[in-house]
Amino acid sequence: MSSERGIPEGDDRRGRPDHDPEGGNTATRRIAAALRTRDLPPDEVFDRYLPEALQGVSSQHWSMLRIAVQVARWVNEHRIADVLDIGSGAGKFCVAAALASDARYLGIEHRPRLVEAARALAHTFGVDDRVTFIEGDAAEIVLPDAEAYYVYNPFGENLVGPEEWVDDEVEHSRGRFERDRATLEAFFDTRPPGTYVFTYNGFGGTLPANYREMRCDRTTFSVLRMLRKTARPGSSTARPRRPRRT
Ligand SMILES: C[S@@+](CC[C@H](N)C(=O)[O-])C[C@H]1O[C@@H](n2cnc3c(N)ncnc32)[C@H](O)[C@@H]1O
Repeated sequence: MSSERGIPEGDDRRGRPDHDPEGGNTATRRIAAALRTRDLPPDEVFDRYLPEALQGVSSQHWSMLRIAVQVARWVNEHRIADVLDIGSGAGKFCVAAALASDARYLGIEHRPRLVEAARALAHTFGVDDRVTFIEGDAAEIVLPDAEAYYVYNPFGENLVGPEEWVDDEVEHSRGRFERDRATLEAFFDTRPPGTYVFTYNGFGGTLPANYREMRCDRTTFSVLRMLRKTARPGSSTARPRRPRRT
């Protein structure tokens, strides 16, 4: 099944991002429309709008369309206004989720070339009025307030060998992993009740106990979770106390 409707199998125009028989950007509009349905395009079709060097690492480092679209559905269902992607990479999550929902998305990414690619992707798909990216280290900048946060294992690269890195342009170390993980744990602890957090393959740390799991999707490679901070500290995991023996 392909989203490139109207272009027959075997036709060499298939998959060429610049192919648009109607002029303008029909191909990207078709992809955008498909993301609002259950009939998703293959990830490779979307990935062709990334710089070539970033397409090859997509399956390993960028969210799959079905993950972005699942989050977008939950975002729409709960009328969430804005989502901050911590470690936004090439912008695939933010752009795909924006196409499939009505919220605003902001991405933070420490690799400048990924920020540049992400901005171009948002522009290509015509969502740059709702999707923005800033360059920065999540552990060093003041993370902006948002109603929801998305984390796709952003610090995991610190724990694997160079062959699994996106590139060697940033520092990778166990010390950095611990610093980044602890920063996010503390950050989520300061968020107001009602804050949503989406995790895909976690973030290497633990959310405070007053985040209650609302939704969980185990049908993909890793686990996708939606959590919401409750008003009472520790209320989500607190067990009823046993009456004291006298
Ligand atoms: C697994 S990728 C996910 C990309 C994107 N969120 C997506 O789902 O398509 C994690 C990203 O986090 C970025 N990252 C890692 N540590 C970071 C930090 N301390 N500050 C900002 N970005 C970071 C990496 O460069 C990488 O692009």
